[in-house]
Amino acid sequence: MIEVKELIKRALEIKVRAYAPYSNFHVACVVMTRSGKVFEGVNVENASYSPTLCAERNALSTAITDGEREFLYIVISGDSDYTYPCGVCRQFIREFADDYTRIIVAKDCDNYKTYTIDELLPNSFSKKDLK
Ligand code: THU
Repeated sequence: MIEVKELIKRALEIKVRAYAPYSNFHVACVVMTRSGKVFEGVNVENASYSPTLCAERNALSTAITDGEREFLYIVISGDSDYTYPCGVCRQFIREFADDYTRIIVAKDCDNYKTYTIDELLPNSFSKKDLK
């Protein structure tokens, strides 16, 4: 099983692939599924600004497209020391995060913080409400 540090290393490596000509702020997200598969995403900006896609939603959507639904790790690394997921991404992550899902906000391979979605988005609205 790939270790957290390897996932962070991968996020740091792919961050340069962000398409961020407007903000010049690069973000990468690497997710690992319960089955051990790894998917990557970077932020993709747009001249019309609002269509901008965050790295987290990009990575998760790629994994979902591949048929994955269960995530062990969601690793985020951006141009600030600790780049936290935006509000929209927290809600997006909420959809696919379970009690075992760990969201890791990484400065580098030795400096990272680990959260559950309940810590990042307390009292959230989720699919449980719709049951
Ligand atoms: N960004 C992400 O990719 N993820 C986040 O959770 C925070 C913000 C991107 C969006 C935009 O391209 C740039 O960072 C500056 O906001």
